[in-house]
Amino acid sequence: MLSAKSAEVVEATLPVVGAAIGDITPIFYDRLFAAHPELLRDLFNRGNQANGTQREALAGSIAAFATALLAHPDQRPDAMLARIAHKHVSVGIGDDQYKVVHEHLFAAIVEVLGEAVTPEVAAAWDEVYWLMANALIAVEDRLRAEVAAGGDPADLWRPYTVVARHQETEAVTTYLVRPADGGPVPAFRPGQYVSVRTELTDGAHQIRQYSLSGSADGALRFSVKREDGGEVSSHLHDHLKAGDTIELAPPLGDIALADGDGPVLLASAGIGNTPMTAMLDHLAATGSTRRIVSVHGDRDQLSHAFRADLARLTTALPNATSHVFYEQPLGEWPAERTGRVDLSTVEVPAGATAYLCGPLPFLRAVREQLLTAGVPAADIHYEVFGPDLWLGA
Ligand SMILES: Cc1cc2nc3c(=O)[nH]c(=O)nc-3n(C[C@H](O)[C@H](O)[C@H](O)COP(=O)(O)OP(=O)(O)OC[C@H]3O[C@@H](n4cnc5c(N)ncnc54)[C@H](O)[C@@H]3O)c2cc1C
Ligand code: HEM
Repeated sequence: MLSAKSAEVVEATLPVVGAAIGDITPIFYDRLFAAHPELLRDLFNRGNQANGTQREALAGSIAAFATALLAHPDQRPDAMLARIAHKHVSVGIGDDQYKVVHEHLFAAIVEVLGEAVTPEVAAAWDEVYWLMANALIAVEDRLRAEVAAGGDPADLWRPYTVVARHQETEAVTTYLVRPADGGPVPAFRPGQYVSVRTELTDGAHQIRQYSLSGSADGALRFSVKREDGGEVSSHLHDHLKAGDTIELAPPLGDIALADGDGPVLLASAGIGNTPMTAMLDHLAATGSTRRIVSVHGDRDQLSHAFRADLARLTTALPNATSHVFYEQPLGEWPAERTGRVDLSTVEVPAGATAYLCGPLPFLRAVREQLLTAGVPAADIHYEVFGPDLWLGA
């Protein structure tokens, strides 16, 4: 909980700090990477650094945390912390690194705001930083202990052998991987992702997340869409083949299908159907009788990965319906299913819990349609295939 004195100072300076955050974060990252070039090469996603999304996400989260603290001093914004903590553990961040980030973040704040950062202002924002950092550290320590013995971030990485690889569509490749030491695959909740650490041709070790699309024959399954100009997805498509070894962190991620018997709505677009495929797979494997509505949007039949799995799984589930929208369908296709996903022609069951995954414009549109259909915001969960820019905030 923020002290009363700091709360007053943070409230008074939040507009100034908030307005300057866009200037502070590039300076912070430049300072951080100048002092520790290995962090950009081997830890941070340099694609997200280049396109700016991670910078926006960090800035947004600190401002959102401070705002939440002022509005509800006794509550922690757990959902936001959980998302960041799962990502941090998955990429192998250690508690000691919070001091390093603190040093460079505060140097950047002073550089941008100058004399406005009086000792009183610095102390108040220091308190916000450490409240957030300590809350994250507590969640991360607990998570790490759950997923890896020893709790050392370096112990998270485990070699896996690629046992099979196949092409889902022209752009999407599926990999089946098993622990190289012959041990069992770790348990995961449908919807969770693994981080994959790859050595690229320039020697950098870059990390990316891939949602598990299921498991089969004692192997984990993930599927990668080749991104135009994307470093890791292209590298995996071009080089990773059956028999190769790859490093994976344990399954993590706060968005996962909750147990229960209530209705479920799964809505995805493009490669966003990887977590949905794992969820359907799990529901079918456990003989679920839940009411399930699956909605998916893609460009056409050929670009639609897991098309056959979707048909098989929704047929196997006794209370499932599937609605597929194609923007440019090949051949005959119903007019009301042509174009982008539109929930106005889909029956959303009362009391449904919704899981969404796809590009940001899709998430925004579908979330809006669900809210209009009367689904409470708290029952709409979404996964973003990049830093979360707090679209739901
Ligand atoms: C939780 C989670 C789950 C995910 N699950 C999946 C999944 O199941 N399947 C899947 O395929 N992906 C998934 N992703 C996305 C995946 O992690 C990668 O982001 C994706 O594969 C692209 O990585 P890349 O290295 O190929 O692209 P990057 O090199 O990281 O590039 C990303 C984007 O930034 C652009 N970019 C790169 N450099 C610059 C520059 N200098 N200036 C401007 N723009 C630039 C690229 O053109 C590209 O559009 C998931 C992501 C998350 C966070
Ligand atoms: C209070 C301090 C911190 C805050 C508020 C913070 C915030 C964030 C946020 C919001 C994300 C994006 C989560 C998502 O939506 O996926 C993120 C990811 C990340 N953070 Fe932090 N973070 C903090 C500390 C640290 C530290 C100490 C490190 C280690 C040097 C670190 C390294 C990373 C990395 C590597 C990612 C993944 C980024 C990517 O791959 O693009 N963070 N953090």
